[in-house]
Amino acid sequence: MDVFSKLRNKVAVFDEEFDTIFPEDVREHSNRHFTSVFIAQQALAFLTEEGAKKILDIGSGTGKFCLVASATSKAYFTGVEHRAYQVEIGNECAQRFGLTNCNFIADTILNIDFKNYDAFYIFNPFLEAKDPTAQMDQAVKVGLKEYDTFSDYVYQQFESLKIGTRIASYWTSKTQFPTSYELVKSSFGDTLTFWVKVS
Ligand SMILES: C[S@@+](CC[C@H](N)C(=O)[O-])C[C@H]1O[C@@H](n2cnc3c(N)ncnc32)[C@H](O)[C@@H]1O
Repeated sequence: MDVFSKLRNKVAVFDEEFDTIFPEDVREHSNRHFTSVFIAQQALAFLTEEGAKKILDIGSGTGKFCLVASATSKAYFTGVEHRAYQVEIGNECAQRFGLTNCNFIADTILNIDFKNYDAFYIFNPFLEAKDPTAQMDQAVKVGLKEYDTFSDYVYQQFESLKIGTRIASYWTSKTQFPTSYELVKSSFGDTLTFWVKVS
């Protein structure tokens, strides 16, 4: 049984096993940079609780969050990622495993209109712009200026969304969320936080 069939059959999938779907040279980034299967499942449950149908992963890497989530949900998952080679890996995995409810776009977050989505997942995507030791590779060149630009853009987009919008966030600063969002739940020592727009 492949990892996605296991997920559908509620068989536990450990990250080490899940990550074998990715090429060996990117697996080494998984521990630090990709969402674990368990966290993805927790985030999915929150995001879809009120019927969200179009979910955006802000900085999707090789697509782990969207791939895990799409296997057991009828919602549609889109990941945007500025490392084109990671987008190719995500789309190849979706195709190989017949996941028709997810896709990955090679682009910067700055070109994405959040109004096209109704719920969001964000896992500290801009850290590497502030902390050079967090860089996966040299495929993109980002620094403090980009950190501010990306964070401000996401903040403004979050602010523009309708009341009731849900966001699941992992290892992401609370300052990324406008005061119009309420923190409704947090777990894993406050690293996984759930937000709803209330005003
Ligand atoms: C911590 S990883 C999370 C990957 C994925 N969301 C997951 O949970 O498995 C953050 C990703 O965001 C991407 N990223 C950072 N800044 C971005 C930007 N401005 N536009 C698109 N992707 C970006 C990085 O290349 C990296 O792959």
